[in-house]
Amino acid sequence: MDSKVLTYCCPTQIHLGIHALRTLPEIITRLGAKRLLFLTDNGVASTEIFKLVKNILEEQHLPFDLFTDIEPDPSHTTVEKAHQIYEKNKATHLLTLGGGSTIDVGKAVGILAANGGRIQDYEGIDRFPNPPVPLLAIPTTAGTGSEVSGSCVITDTDRSLKLSIRGSTLNRAKVAILDPLTLSSLPHHVAAHAAMDAFVHALESYVSLNANPITDAMNLYAIGLISQNVRPFVANRSNLEAGLQMLCAASLAGMGFSNTGAGNIHCMARFVGAFFHVPHGLANAVCLPYGADFNLMASPQKYARLASAMGGAVHGMTTLEAARTAIDAIRRLNGDLGIPSRLREIGVTENRISEMARLCFEANYNRWNPRYTTVEDFQLLFEKAF
Ligand SMILES: [Fe+2]
Repeated sequence: MDSKVLTYCCPTQIHLGIHALRTLPEIITRLGAKRLLFLTDNGVASTEIFKLVKNILEEQHLPFDLFTDIEPDPSHTTVEKAHQIYEKNKATHLLTLGGGSTIDVGKAVGILAANGGRIQDYEGIDRFPNPPVPLLAIPTTAGTGSEVSGSCVITDTDRSLKLSIRGSTLNRAKVAILDPLTLSSLPHHVAAHAAMDAFVHALESYVSLNANPITDAMNLYAIGLISQNVRPFVANRSNLEAGLQMLCAASLAGMGFSNTGAGNIHCMARFVGAFFHVPHGLANAVCLPYGADFNLMASPQKYARLASAMGGAVHGMTTLEAARTAIDAIRRLNGDLGIPSRLREIGVTENRISEMARLCFEANYNRWNPRYTTVEDFQLLFEKAF
């Protein structure tokens, strides 16, 4: 055993259950909130769940200001506009009702409110000295795990790049409410893409070079929950039991990967998303079987356990045989959820593959990926996936 010291941290308080939203009044009281900036997007603002949360705030006579102009891949100007409202109205706390983009804007506003300056000033790891303003997150997708992860991604539209802002202990939501009622109006494809994002978080964290027994336990359990519940959940987003398990799995996987780092699949998906505007979860799902197959030989025991967690009948098989069935199970899962099997089917063009391969190598996910990956390896991975 080597002497590497591994770290696990998740300071978010989680309230999990069907009708967990009923705890919102007591949570607000406990947080001592005097005025909220309530962040959501225009899609969520037209749903019943938005009305429910708004009614709870009004019944509590808690003043709030609403900001709904949040786009997918939110920009630094969106963060600045929301922050101006926060300052102008002297809010004390942040509430997000939405998916990863909305939570990320909430995190970024919290950093600016406590530290001043521009969000670009805080790109990198632990660049903001003061703890962000407390954030209460109510996720409306089961995927990103952003409510418990230590990062937010904001697009700098002046420089056409994505800023990754991370804090080892300071950048999570203070409180998260995971209630499957929030998932019931999700479109089928959004539910599927988000679920596969969570699956990739769990898998990449499980086989990461930084994995530890705590993250292993969470990731393997998350993979089991997703494997058992994702089909009934995507088929019927009003299935509250399945939705609850998916929310739990997404948070577990978020706690996992935010402590260990991701791997090749996220790396490939990052540039597929940036170059071709493919939704993050979809890009991950399409790259998943190729990246998983490439990494298998670095960690066959873990892949064998993955196969078992996914429900595979691996008894009597050798470790390698069992490990290979995990890749088959992943392909079947993607197929059942309607995920295309090739990058060409989601708008990727062959002429950008070399550039994406170079950028993937330079992004240095070799810090976390279990199998060292060269530029040529990335080139081959993209060509196979194409
Ligand atoms: Fe992700």
